[in-house]
Amino acid sequence: QLILDTLDAHSTIQDTRSLVIPGQSDPAVSQDAQITILGALNSLLSRDMVKFETREIISHVLTPEGSQIAVEGSHEARVWSALPAKGEGAPVTPVQLKKQVGDETAKVGQGRAFKNGWIGKEGDGLVKLTSNIKDVTQIDLLEIQSSGTLKSGEKDLADLRKRKLIVQRKGQWFTVHKGPEFSTSTAKPETDLTVDMLTSGAWKTSTFKKYNFEAEGAPTEGGSLHPLLKVREEIRNIFLEMGFAEMPTASFVESGFWCFDALFVPQQHPARDLQDTFYISDPPHSLHPEPEYYKRVSTVHEHGGFGSTGYRAPWSHEETTKLLLRTHTTASSAHMLYKLAAKCRGEDVEADVRPAVGVSKESSKDDGFRPAKLFSIDRVFRNETTDATHLAEFHQVEGVVADRGLTLADLIGFMRVFFNKMGIERVRFKPAYNPYTEPSLEIFAFHPLLDRWVEVGNSGMFRPEMLEPMGFPKDVRVHGWGIGLERPAMIQYGISNIRTLLGHKTSIEYIEDSPAPML
Ligand code: PHE
Repeated sequence: QLILDTLDAHSTIQDTRSLVIPGQSDPAVSQDAQITILGALNSLLSRDMVKFETREIISHVLTPEGSQIAVEGSHEARVWSALPAKGEGAPVTPVQLKKQVGDETAKVGQGRAFKNGWIGKEGDGLVKLTSNIKDVTQIDLLEIQSSGTLKSGEKDLADLRKRKLIVQRKGQWFTVHKGPEFSTSTAKPETDLTVDMLTSGAWKTSTFKKYNFEAEGAPTEGGSLHPLLKVREEIRNIFLEMGFAEMPTASFVESGFWCFDALFVPQQHPARDLQDTFYISDPPHSLHPEPEYYKRVSTVHEHGGFGSTGYRAPWSHEETTKLLLRTHTTASSAHMLYKLAAKCRGEDVEADVRPAVGVSKESSKDDGFRPAKLFSIDRVFRNETTDATHLAEFHQVEGVVADRGLTLADLIGFMRVFFNKMGIERVRFKPAYNPYTEPSLEIFAFHPLLDRWVEVGNSGMFRPEMLEPMGFPKDVRVHGWGIGLERPAMIQYGISNIRTLLGHKTSIEYIEDSPAPML
């Protein structure tokens, strides 16, 4: 209002340091006051009510020591005050003076007070020589405090700077003119055109706030993909570009038959314990598997066959029909491989397994076999104690290739290519044991951030005890491998606790703000 009224009276304000802010006796010369004025100017400028130019100046402000002198007087004045007038009381000894005014003030003040002729020696002590003094230092500092400068000029300023009582500071002041929307009213412009304004006609005289086309819009609310789904999408794309077809994996609930027996996992295997597997209580049992296939599977377990001696352990029908939450996606792979072998079994069905791209060494045999490259990425469940790196439900990435005459070298070569596409250049394989594969390999990847090898998955050539009961011809080999999804995702996002990624402790902001990792 002060700015608008002054402009109204004088049409320009040459120097904003001449303004007298209401409630203050002196003009607004200090930098603090100019900053307040700048705030008001900017707000008036945004409404086109004023225009202004900024002038740069060097101003001065007091150091802490300077501020103390402005309040208490200079060291020399404090020394002078502490002494008796000549002939009026006992002279003060230097030791007493130090006690009274402090070491620093006594030391600095004495010399200057002597030089100014304010004090003199009497015997061993000091006395006043004048009855009043003019404390120029204090007066100058008070002037600088209120105006930022000294009328007496640069020489005195330089002296005070050398004494470290003041420092230079960049300052500014402003020259102000009327703007196109100048008015003396600071009433806030309207932001909305209301029904009331239209009916009363107030819109004709109202001022409206201008649109700010530079303003950023409010962020839009919307769903966002979970980081794990983004990693899944990127891995899915690698499979697709390598000619793989995605397997259906919607059934989280499987029977012991498909999760274990069909894979030649012995019925006594520890993985089938209650401690490792979640069993379903209602309903507890699956329907009976297809009888002929079931017979071949139970026989190869109990008595052997297809060149194998089998486990020669008692077979439990109860065990095979138990319902459970699948412990690996290899259960789904088993379903698909069984389907893939349908024609080989002589069944008159069009196997709805998509043929693979770029696989087979052509075969002249007409035994119904079609090569396939299949993958899945989905959830599995294990009855585990959870910690920073383990959850009871997690995701597996699984790839399966079926073709005639595949070798272990095909499996290793394929995995190297695949991991390379994921950005993992260094992979290593270690012989391992798996009930359904032989040979089996554990997969290790070099983790550059951790600077060590970490186990990422498991792989192998499926056993004839698994493939031949399904009906595959003897020369058909199937290799497969599985890796977790969470671990690569944690590596990609640089997080060490899986709960940051999954579960009730995950923050929505984290989910929304995490970009796709770009494998
Ligand atoms: N099912 C294995 C696992 O859960 C992974 C695997 C898949 C191993 C296919 C070999 C072949 O670790």
